Amino acid sequence: MDLNWKEGFTIPTGKLYPFQWNWDSGFTSIGHSHFNLDFAIQELASLFSGQWDNGMLPHIIFHSEKEKTYFPNYDFWDANVNAGAPHKPKTSGITQPAVHGFVLESLLERFPDNEKLIAFVKGIFPKVVKSHRFLYTYRDPEREGLMFIFHPWESGRDNSPLWDESLDRIEVKKEELPPYERRDTSLAPKDERPTTYQYDRYVYLLQLGKNNRYDELGIFEESPYLVQDTLMNAVLIKSNESLIKIGKRFGFDVGELEEWQQQSIPKFQEKLWHAGLQTFAAYDLRGQQHIEHKEIGGIAALYANIPTEDQAKALNDYLQSLHQRGYYICPSFDVDSPLFDSKRYWRGPIWPQMNWMIYHGLKNYNFTDTADIVKSDLIELVSKLGFYEYFESQKSVAEKLETGYGGGDFSWTAACTLDLLKSNGHI
Ligand code: GLC
Repeated sequence: MDLNWKEGFTIPTGKLYPFQWNWDSGFTSIGHSHFNLDFAIQELASLFSGQWDNGMLPHIIFHSEKEKTYFPNYDFWDANVNAGAPHKPKTSGITQPAVHGFVLESLLERFPDNEKLIAFVKGIFPKVVKSHRFLYTYRDPEREGLMFIFHPWESGRDNSPLWDESLDRIEVKKEELPPYERRDTSLAPKDERPTTYQYDRYVYLLQLGKNNRYDELGIFEESPYLVQDTLMNAVLIKSNESLIKIGKRFGFDVGELEEWQQQSIPKFQEKLWHAGLQTFAAYDLRGQQHIEHKEIGGIAALYANIPTEDQAKALNDYLQSLHQRGYYICPSFDVDSPLFDSKRYWRGPIWPQMNWMIYHGLKNYNFTDTADIVKSDLIELVSKLGFYEYFESQKSVAEKLETGYGGGDFSWTAACTLDLLKSNGHI
């Protein structure tokens, strides 16, 4: 984390991701708080310096306009086509999972009486609520209690097979796409990154956003990709819960947050539960159906206390069965699907921040044995293979490896590992 600290914020990893990422910063802030509360606070303050007037908290904050090694860079996003986007820092035009409410709760748990932290939390609280209000207002136009995403990158799980079908709906005519050059495939092995076919569609959706000046109603009408995602909504619900606790402590009005919760939790439980799969599944608003796959976002619902006891038991049984079959838990995608790829990004590997959330989720439901496996699996992977971005999920394959996958010296990997070790008094 020190290595990736850039005077005021932390980059996820050098080279591959040279700017500040939204949900990465949330987890990294928790990590910093274990040894440097000032960094933890600055991390969140610099992230929110990129918040838009409408409340949107962008997925990337481009603090430096000189760094040219990333695609799509701030000039490609051209976020200032929207009048409410800041001119400095430059930002992207989409968002990411709303982790910041629960991040604040985690910091306060560690330092309940620290005056500097309390002052900071009181100052940033309205901004975090505003970022939730953006999601409930612009991303839930039918007022269902579930927000949608219009770009796979918003989900935090860029190339998950979940999005394949929706992306297949997009017919990309090469001459209609602006010319672009990827940078990621020259910095990490190609077979660990999304394909060109997928990238063309990511750029297509970015353009669609830009052509609409990132105006959310136009996007709702036009986008061929419109999904009520499990992880996005679960994280939002978890952060609502944290903000309610924090708000009550500091005398803020939490009525609006409570209303969101009352609508969102039952809607998530009913609409996103897939009885056949025995898990929660994202909902494709364009196709008007569940995206029928077992996938890690559905399991993360545990962290937000959403599942009923029966639903939670089904999720726990599933994790146990994967463990018994020789997988680290939890792989990011259904190991029995032909689309599973234990090496390629969000199509099967283990992701540290997901293990962190699922560990806490299992603890919520008193599935302590499984929680301990989820924790020790991550610690084993990190100990053997290093602080990588993501990891091989099949134990028999991981045994023969010497490193993890994707970027090395990864910030949230360090942060989540540290927090998990500390939370059980290991160090
Ligand atoms: C990738 C991940 C995303 C993360 C970003 C920076 O795009 O899919 O979740 O925020 O990298 O680490």
